[in-house]
Amino acid sequence: MHNKEVTVVSKTSRMASRLIPSEIIRLSGEINQRVLSGESIFNLTIGDFDPGIFPLPKALHLAIRRAYDEGMTNYPPANGVVPLRKALSAHIERRMGLSTDPEDILVSSGARPLIYSLYKTIVDPGDVVVYPVPSWNNNHYCHLSAAQGVAVETLASDEFMPQAEALGPHLENASLLALCSPQNPTGTVFSKENLRSICKLVLEENRRRAGQRKPLYVMYDQIYQELCMPGTQHEHPLILEPAMRDYVVTIDGMSKAFAATGIRVGWAFGPREVLTKMRAILSHVGAWAPKPEQMASAWFLQNIPEVDAYLDGFRAAVGRRLNGLYADILDLRQSGYPIDAIRPGAAIYLTVQIPWLGRTVGNRRLDQVSDVADYLIDQCKVGLVPFRAFGAPDAGGWHRISVGTLREEDIPLVGKALKQGMDQFGD
Ligand SMILES: Cc1ncc(COP(=O)(O)O)c(C=O)c1O
Repeated sequence: MHNKEVTVVSKTSRMASRLIPSEIIRLSGEINQRVLSGESIFNLTIGDFDPGIFPLPKALHLAIRRAYDEGMTNYPPANGVVPLRKALSAHIERRMGLSTDPEDILVSSGARPLIYSLYKTIVDPGDVVVYPVPSWNNNHYCHLSAAQGVAVETLASDEFMPQAEALGPHLENASLLALCSPQNPTGTVFSKENLRSICKLVLEENRRRAGQRKPLYVMYDQIYQELCMPGTQHEHPLILEPAMRDYVVTIDGMSKAFAATGIRVGWAFGPREVLTKMRAILSHVGAWAPKPEQMASAWFLQNIPEVDAYLDGFRAAVGRRLNGLYADILDLRQSGYPIDAIRPGAAIYLTVQIPWLGRTVGNRRLDQVSDVADYLIDQCKVGLVPFRAFGAPDAGGWHRISVGTLREEDIPLVGKALKQGMDQFGD
């Protein structure tokens, strides 16, 4: 008798069958399940806002209702309604000092489809995409576009921002360099010097290619740019090196700036030939932002006093949470507890070090990163995301805290909960 070879037939494409679901959504879902069954846990995992704590700007809310009342419910143009692209051009000029033709702006249903279509526009199967780790979702976009991802590890001493020297050696073969500042998951930003050096490397590389090869493009995701805390400066490649205009596609949107993640309005600006293809891809996908939300965003963004007042209040509220947690964690560290954090600069994230691997509690030993995550949830009643979910190595015990669901009165309770967990360590 000879063995019959068993062939497992995949019922879907290889790409689909190898998709990895989001670790963050899984973690958050598990915690929410436990909360629903009566446990009290701070779910600081997901990069979203609790609308009860961080509601939409009132003027945006009213504008959305008005757009529905006025019956603006048919298909929008594939690149976004003209009033929104005009309003965005003015908004980009006012907030960043960059002049952008409305024709070079593409609107879509949030930032995600724009990132996807940018990858699909630039990357041929097997092309190299360089990105830092930890970073948000580049591994998944590489998978979707059959790219060869080159993950460049960053250092805590650089606040986990990728440095020009580390990226440089990987650029020669790359089609796309994916950057994000303020960065998810770290809440840190590029320094002017470092970003300028990276731009110089990209420009040199493109001079070497001299039109003989596809250029090296940069994705610059600045979706958290409005959430820079006082003392943190947002930098942009086009401001530092205007010659980058031919190579940079900027990704931005309403989601994080206006606690509007469910509204689904995002935009990109960049070289026209790239945006035209992104638009063509997205028109087949049908990922345009809903027309009422586009019109409402256009009206809202032109209402400068409302925009500025909202952003000032929002930034301050996020800052109180980030700085409050940071101060409590530093106090714990100074009292000798095994915990540390990086000074928060921007976004809704705090980078915290929880080096608890190998610790014991009774006869329980925290041997794996997942044991630490479980201990955080079971004992401390705090859910955080380990940097492993952002492609980074486990060394160091680094985690992301997201403050979008944290009530002001609960800020001191998080530090207390972490302390109480550490007080039980037996070693
Ligand atoms: C860095 C970064 N870019 C893009 C997005 C996606 O934004 P949107 O909800 O507009 O698709 C996120 C969401 O978490 C993000 O963190």
